[in-house]
Amino acid sequence: MFEHIDAYPGDPILTLNENFAKDLRDNKVNLSIGIYYDDEGRLPVMQAVREAEGQLLAELGPKPYLPMAGFAQYRDAVQSLVFGDDSPARVDGRIATVQTLGGSGALKIGADFIKRYFPDSQVWVSDPTWENHRFIFERAGFTVSTYPYYDEASGGLKFEAMLTAIDALPARSVVLLHACCHNPTGVDLNDAQWVQLIEILKKRDLLPFIDMAYQGFGAGIEADAFAIRELVHQNVPAFVANSFSKNFSLYGERCGGLSVICESPDVAARVLGQLTSAVRANYSNPPTHGAKIVARVLTTPELRQSWEDELTSMCRRIMRMRAEIHDCLRGNVPDTMLARYLEQRGMFTYTGLLAGQVDVLRERHGVYLIRSGRMCVAALNERNLAITARAIAEVLSHATD
Ligand code: LMR
Repeated sequence: MFEHIDAYPGDPILTLNENFAKDLRDNKVNLSIGIYYDDEGRLPVMQAVREAEGQLLAELGPKPYLPMAGFAQYRDAVQSLVFGDDSPARVDGRIATVQTLGGSGALKIGADFIKRYFPDSQVWVSDPTWENHRFIFERAGFTVSTYPYYDEASGGLKFEAMLTAIDALPARSVVLLHACCHNPTGVDLNDAQWVQLIEILKKRDLLPFIDMAYQGFGAGIEADAFAIRELVHQNVPAFVANSFSKNFSLYGERCGGLSVICESPDVAARVLGQLTSAVRANYSNPPTHGAKIVARVLTTPELRQSWEDELTSMCRRIMRMRAEIHDCLRGNVPDTMLARYLEQRGMFTYTGLLAGQVDVLRERHGVYLIRSGRMCVAALNERNLAITARAIAEVLSHATD
């Protein structure tokens, strides 16, 4: 019966992370998966999360199913955070939001919805993008292609080429964009570039799908959502996936949301109904615990303040690590590959290391990066910085031997 089943080659991020756990070397360093670790190399439990969780445990009660669309207070808090509390689209009731299983769940529910109502659309993702984007949309039945994005020579953005490519797409093409802290490159559009791009999306009748997995890790909670606020401002219908895995350090709770900006409250009600039906067809309804924590934090002023402050200090720590790895590598890494450690934003830097060099880093030095050359700078700390810098310098010195 199952003879024809292929072996799973594994996932470029999650399998690597599992292999790291099996590595027995003491001085191994995990800069592969996008997870924030603190200065001691520990996964933090944020103070606001700890307090909210304590309150919820004290109130422990029965555990009924949540509604298919999710916990109402959570969905409202998602909208308020992602769009701004006084967003005109929110005030008008034009946003349909469902609770999802992390950001990936939001992408999958959105993909199923789009496949049903825009069956002829194709999907366009940045070159490169998070490996799972292509996988999720292809599995949902789409053809996935790329638009130009990252400029390896400068470590920056190919903005003109990106605009030209997107300007030539057929109407109703789905254009997947990263709101901030682009994964894997750490290269973002600035506000003026977003305005220009959104004008084209509108003019060409394209369907933006914004993935915001790192709100608060770039320029701040509000500033990171600029693209979303601008879509509302320019009246562009759009999908927005958001995740609390990173900014609440709630990875395993699978807390995310999918919001759709619609033309009217009436349309939003129907869209919400069909998103709900996609949830039912995939997993019936979402889990309770993480959503209650997030809702409690976001709607309790003291907890919210504590969360924002801690997120800001996490961000500052990442900036410090960027500066320190930059300084440690200076002199050992070509200048053209150095500035990006400071300039790229969020959890990742695209180091420019080749897959073969990443393999040597892992096999010989126990330093794990994604084979694309992506480094999770949010996992650097005072202990592993020097090991990492030495290993990279050695690998690069062999490359030029
Ligand atoms: C990553 O990019 O490393 C994270 O978003 C984890 C994942 O699921 O791939």
